[in-house]
Amino acid sequence: MRNLIKILDLSVEEIDEMIAVADDIMAHPENYYEACKNKTLATLFFEPSTRTRLSFEAAMLGLGGNVLGFSEASSSSATKGESVADTIAVVGGYADIIAMRHPKEGAPMVASMHSSVPIINAGDGGHFHPTQTLTDLLTIHHEKGRFDGLTVGLCGDLKFGRTVHSLIEAMSRYPGVKFVLISPEELKVPSFVKQTYIKDKGIPYKQSTSLEEVIGELDILYMTRVQRERFFNEEDYLRLRDCYILTQEKMQLAKPDMIVMHPLPRVNEISTLVDDDPRASYFRQARYGKFIRMALILKLLKEAENNEN
Ligand code: NCD
Repeated sequence: MRNLIKILDLSVEEIDEMIAVADDIMAHPENYYEACKNKTLATLFFEPSTRTRLSFEAAMLGLGGNVLGFSEASSSSATKGESVADTIAVVGGYADIIAMRHPKEGAPMVASMHSSVPIINAGDGGHFHPTQTLTDLLTIHHEKGRFDGLTVGLCGDLKFGRTVHSLIEAMSRYPGVKFVLISPEELKVPSFVKQTYIKDKGIPYKQSTSLEEVIGELDILYMTRVQRERFFNEEDYLRLRDCYILTQEKMQLAKPDMIVMHPLPRVNEISTLVDDDPRASYFRQARYGKFIRMALILKLLKEAENNEN
């Protein structure tokens, strides 16, 4: 069974194909209105979400399919002590494909071992978030027209930010990419990501605690929220939450064609005054999420069907 647990489950060629399908869906949505007729997507969200869950549901509805699921653990039998494995075994009887978000790292991987239908990781704790990365790649493709040779700055909570970890994994496969890692000491990229996807691959990178000092070098600035829910104590969160705030003044130091991305939700880290800057890509980015998820659902369902035949 083909699942999507981490972004490297997809080859570079497969990602290119999915981007082409997403582009075709955007150009001719009517050709896809019945593509998943009589198919059902379950969204099992044990952790809150707006964009990811709704974009999955909008994606399946746009393909003529059905959706069911829950949006918080408290409205599922998890509160009664049911294991992920049991929930998945049951939901596989009601749905053809499952998108799952869970606060525990590795939960979607465990789910995939107990599932009769494809599992998509919609975010597991502070680990990975591969469908956000597909969204990010579609955004970069549209806004920059290439992946090679880009200097990518990642700023904010690089420790707990799962979107950051998956984006580093994905971008580490393209030639000429450089990373600039901007965070306070306490929120640096974890070693399981830095060692495997940056150092071992010999990718040039630089670490900084100052956004102003490095913003002028970047082609992409990927801002992130400090992940309050993953902190062990509130004091640390309060001390670190406003460590970086992107303002109009800082944008003046950036290249004229740099783009600003953010997986959203934004808290304080980008001033709303930056929203009108044409380089602010984050709301366009959120929109792309629906189309790449359509391409992903189509791909995984097709492969599941081919497996059966
Ligand atoms: C991100 C997530 O859930 O990790 N949100 C999203 O899916 N767009 C980022 C975040 O919550 O900060």
